[in-house]
Amino acid sequence: MTGRLGAVCALIEKTQSFIDVGCDHGYTVQYVLNNNLAEKITACDISAPSLAKAKALLGENCGVKFVCADGKIAAKGHDTVLISGMGGIEISSIIKCCSPKTFILSPQSHVREVRKTLLENDYRITFDKAMRDGKYYDVIKATFGGGKEMLENASEPRLEYGMFLDEKNDALISKLVALKKAVESYPPTAENLRKLEIIEEALSWQLR
Ligand SMILES: C[S@@+](CC[C@H](N)C(=O)[O-])C[C@H]1O[C@@H](n2cnc3c(N)ncnc32)[C@H](O)[C@@H]1O
Repeated sequence: MTGRLGAVCALIEKTQSFIDVGCDHGYTVQYVLNNNLAEKITACDISAPSLAKAKALLGENCGVKFVCADGKIAAKGHDTVLISGMGGIEISSIIKCCSPKTFILSPQSHVREVRKTLLENDYRITFDKAMRDGKYYDVIKATFGGGKEMLENASEPRLEYGMFLDEKNDALISKLVALKKAVESYPPTAENLRKLEIIEEALSWQLR
């Protein structure tokens, strides 16, 4: 598997119980199953037609539990919770409803909100990387413990663009350069000037 889903799957370690919230096609569940990474595997989607795609890929009797439910309910009680391709506001509300050892996340929007919610709920972010697969994506891994301490030292550029801004990443540089160009073309309101300041600080970490 390559690209965005490959980057997400590469972060999955052996675990007692695994759930993919918003599994849709079921490719990440298939990866966990084929690589024998979890004793209990749950494929969850709020949409029955989406879950049907995962069932069609994997087969009803593959040993995976298929659950048509909201992740806010279904994610409870799992050791590893994976959520990718969903908006950051929805991901944040699911984070608040469960307490796994590990989250693996790839939000499509509102990534600052996701980072902040993880840290406030004491999840330490251990991997946080922007990548490009057609569009730009962030891929984040967090484990329970030490998040509140990490939040005390988290600057605004890190919350916005990644906790490990000092690790050079070509995808992040091109994302920040494109964002800078866009924001420079906006009216110079206080909000836009602040956005620009944060982008420039993030870029300066990448370019030093
Ligand atoms: C864009 S797809 C992403 C599929 C796959 N995870 C990926 O990264 O390619 C988002 C999926 O999340 C499901 N979804 C949205 N909100 C959900 C929620 N609260 N609980 C469970 N599934 C949800 C949608 O039905 C949809 O199938």
